[in-house]
Amino acid sequence: MDLLPEGWPLSPIATWVAIVAVTYVLVYQYSKQKLDAKEPPVIASGFPFIGHLLGMALQGGKYIKSLGIRNRHLPIFTLPVPRSRIYIVTEPSLAAAVQRASKALSFTPIIPEVTERVLGLDKATMEITRKNLDPGPGDERGFLADIQDMVYAFFGLGSYLNEISLDAARELRNEVLAFAASHENVPGSKRPVDLLAWVRHLVTVSTAKYFYGPHNPIALDSKLIECFWDFDHGLGKLLINAFPSVTARKAYRGRELLVKALEKYLENGHHTTGSKIVQKRVEIALQHGWTLRATARSELSFLFAGIVNATTSTFWILLQIFADPQLLSTVREEIRQVLRPDKSKGKDTYRGNYTLNITDLKDHCPMLIAVYRECLRLGSDNYSTRMVKEDILLADRYFLKKGAVIQIAGGVIHADESIWGDGVESFNPGRFLELKQQSGNTRQNQVHPAAFRAFGGGKTLCPGRHFAMNEILSLVSLIVLMFDIEAPDGGMINVPRKNDSVLPVHILEPISPVKVLISKRRDTHVEVYSNIEFAL
Ligand code: HEM
Ligand SMILES: *[C@@H]1O[C@H](CO)[C@@H](O)[C@H](O)[C@H]1NC(C)=O
Ligand SMILES: *[C@@H]1O[C@H](CO)[C@@H](O)[C@H](O)[C@H]1NC(C)=O
Ligand SMILES: *[C@@H]1O[C@H](CO)[C@@H](O)[C@H](O)[C@H]1NC(C)=O
Ligand SMILES: *[C@@H]1O[C@H](CO)[C@@H](O)[C@H](O)[C@H]1NC(C)=O
Repeated sequence: MDLLPEGWPLSPIATWVAIVAVTYVLVYQYSKQKLDAKEPPVIASGFPFIGHLLGMALQGGKYIKSLGIRNRHLPIFTLPVPRSRIYIVTEPSLAAAVQRASKALSFTPIIPEVTERVLGLDKATMEITRKNLDPGPGDERGFLADIQDMVYAFFGLGSYLNEISLDAARELRNEVLAFAASHENVPGSKRPVDLLAWVRHLVTVSTAKYFYGPHNPIALDSKLIECFWDFDHGLGKLLINAFPSVTARKAYRGRELLVKALEKYLENGHHTTGSKIVQKRVEIALQHGWTLRATARSELSFLFAGIVNATTSTFWILLQIFADPQLLSTVREEIRQVLRPDKSKGKDTYRGNYTLNITDLKDHCPMLIAVYRECLRLGSDNYSTRMVKEDILLADRYFLKKGAVIQIAGGVIHADESIWGDGVESFNPGRFLELKQQSGNTRQNQVHPAAFRAFGGGKTLCPGRHFAMNEILSLVSLIVLMFDIEAPDGGMINVPRKNDSVLPVHILEPISPVKVLISKRRDTHVEVYSNIEFAL
C-alpha cells in the first residue's frame, strides 16, 4: 500500500475494505440491470451472478420455490446468471402465455441434451435426434416429432386408451391378488412392509408387463427391478455427466443392465407380443435409422415415464387415505357404491362376480378424485423449462432475451393461497370439492386451467395423463376394497414430509420410509373381489 498518495485519509486496510465494498456495490448494481426496460423485474443475488446458481446447486428445487414464494407479488422475475438469464413464472395466466408461445419458447432443444446424458445415447443416434427438432407445417419430421405425435395420438381419448387402461388395470389386479395369495402363506403376515417399496414392486412389474408383454426383461429377471430404481435415484448424477460410470456408479450399472436386457428383448422380437404403442415406438425408431441398442435406451425412457410418477402418486394417495380413518371410510363407501354385480356371471356375487367401471370411479367418487388431485398438487414441485429461441415480448408486456431459459415454477403456483385456499402446505382434499362446487356458480372462483401443473402444460403436457388417472384409480380402488393398512404399533399412520432436497424428476418421495402392516380385510373381502372385472 505504498502507492497511497500523501495525506490519504484511510489506513491501508480501510482502503482495501472500501475498494472491495465499492466494487461489490457496482457489480451488484450491474447484476441488477435489465437488458431491456421491459425485461421482468430482476432479483439480484447477494452474491452477484453466481449466487442463484449456487443456491440451486445447494438446495435443489427448494431454492427457486422459496424465492418465488417470497416474491409472490411478481408474476414473473429475472434471475441474472453468468452471460444469461433465467426467467421464473409464478402465475397461471402467464404460464398459459408461455405455453402458447411455443415457437419462441421451446422445450425441444433441451430434450437431446437431457436424453443424451440420462440415457447414454451414442453420437450417431444424437445426430439423428437433432434433425428437424421443431418442424413447421410441411417440413420433414424428425424422430422426436414423429414419436411424440404417435404417443399423444395413442394415449388420447379413444378406443386405444380404453384398451390399454383395461390391460393395465387387469395386470395390476393380478399382481395385487398374487400378493394377497402369498401373504396368506407367510406366517408373519404381521410383518411390517415398506409401503413405497410395496407400491414400487406392484407398479414396476405390472407396467413392464402390460407395455412390453410376457417376455419383458423384468418378468425374466426380477433383479432388474432394483436396477430400475437405482437408475431412477441416480438420474441427477447422470445428468451432471462427469464420468458417470464412477460418480453415478449404481445408476449407471442399473441403466446398462436394463439396456442390455431390453436390447436382447428387441433382438428376439419379443416386442411383437407387447402393447401396440410399444410396437409402434420401435417401428418409428427403426424407420429413423436407430440401432437396436439405441432403441433399447429409448424404451427405457418410456418405461421410466410409465412407472415413476404412477408409483409415487399411488404411494401418497394410499398413505393419505389409510392415515385418516374417516377419509378411508368415505372413499371406501364411494367405491363400493359404483361396484356392479356382473349379471352375465349369474347370481353368485358372493364369490366375486363384480364389475368396476373406471368411468364411474371418475364420475361418481368425488372424494377419491379430490384425494388424487390434492396428492398431485402437493407432490409436484417441478419446473416446466423452455429455451428462449428468439427475443420476444411475452403477453405483450415482458421482454425475454434470446438464449435465456424460462421456467414455470409449478411448486410456487401449487403453494398459492389465492388459488387453492388456506393451508396450502397441508393435505386437504376438501379444497377440490369446494373448488368444483364454486366453479359451477361463479367464474371468479374457477381455478385457472394452467394452475394445476402436475402434468405440465402446453407442448410438454404429459401424454399419459388420462391413462395414468385410469390406472392409478383402478389400483387404489382395489387396494382400498381388499386390504387394511395400519401402523405397526396399532396407532395412527404417520405421514412424513417430502424429501425435497433432490432434483425433482418425479413426484417427490417421503423423507423417511413408511412401515405399515398390510392385511386382507376380514369377512372374505379378498375372495369377494378377487374376480373383479374392469370396464370403461
Ligand atoms: C401421476 C402420474 C404422472 C404424472 C404426474 C406425469 C407427469 C408428466 C409430466 C409433467 C411430463 C412432462 C415432463 C417434461 O416437461 O418433460 C410428462 C411426460 C411424459 N409422460 Fe407423464 N406423468 C404421469 C404418468 C405417466 C404415465 C403412466 C405414462 C405412461 C407411459 C406417462 C407418459 C409420459 C411420456 C411418454 C412423457 C414424455 C412426453 C415427451 O417427452 O414427449 N406419464 N409426464
Ligand atoms: C413426473 O411428475 C412430475 C411432477 O409433476 C414432473 O415434474 C415430472 O417431469 C414427471 N416425470 C416424468 C418422468 O414424467
Ligand atoms: C423437471 O422434470 C424434467 C423431466 O423429468 C427434468 O428434465 C427437469 O430437469 C426437471 N426440472 C427441475 C428444475 O428439476
Ligand atoms: C433425500 O433423497 C436423496 C436422494 O435419494 C438422499 O441422498 C437423501 O439422503 C434424502 N434425504 C433424506 C433426509 O432422507
Ligand atoms: C362404463 O360407464 C360408462 C358411464 O356410465 C358407460 O358409458 C360405459 O358403457 C360403461 N362401460 C361398460 C363396459 O359397461
